[in-house]
Amino acid sequence: MSTAIYPGSFDPITNGHVSILQSGLRAFDHIIVAVLHNPQKSALFTVAERTEMIREALGGDPRFEVDTFEGLLVDYAKKRQANVVLRGLRAVADFEYELQMANMNRHLNDEVETVFIMAKDAYFYVSSNLVKEAARLGGDVSRLVPPGVAERLRAKLRP
Ligand code: PNS
Repeated sequence: MSTAIYPGSFDPITNGHVSILQSGLRAFDHIIVAVLHNPQKSALFTVAERTEMIREALGGDPRFEVDTFEGLLVDYAKKRQANVVLRGLRAVADFEYELQMANMNRHLNDEVETVFIMAKDAYFYVSSNLVKEAARLGGDVSRLVPPGVAERLRAKLRP
């Protein structure tokens, strides 16, 4: 069985993430969505809220697993006996950051390979940060995030 780890902050998960995950199933049997628990970085949603929203968005598909990790991604990959990290690529702006991360991860453990999937054009400019900013200012982001996320954004940002 082929397993990949799809790591990220997911603050919150967007339809862009969901689309990459669905495409990922064409290449992998099992995908572990790994939410980074980083106490140094302030997030809008707690790790528990983020994992709950991801579980809801993935609708109980057994090919997906949702987990959290702390510390180095390559150490987590080793612990989970997975040697592929899956990342989505959107516009060119992602490339530099992704290249740096993939190279750093390769430097730390060259048995872990990073595989990229291109985002669908509809999600090229969708990011968790822009979704939060638009929602905070009262914009309608309901087509960019799963329904549960849109509700939680409303509740948290515009109670
Ligand atoms: O959704 P994001 O914020 O772009 O995801 C970034 C993430 C979580 C994949 C990255 O920050 C990460 O892997 N952090 C764990 C720490 C680590 O392994 N750092 C070294 C590689 S750059």
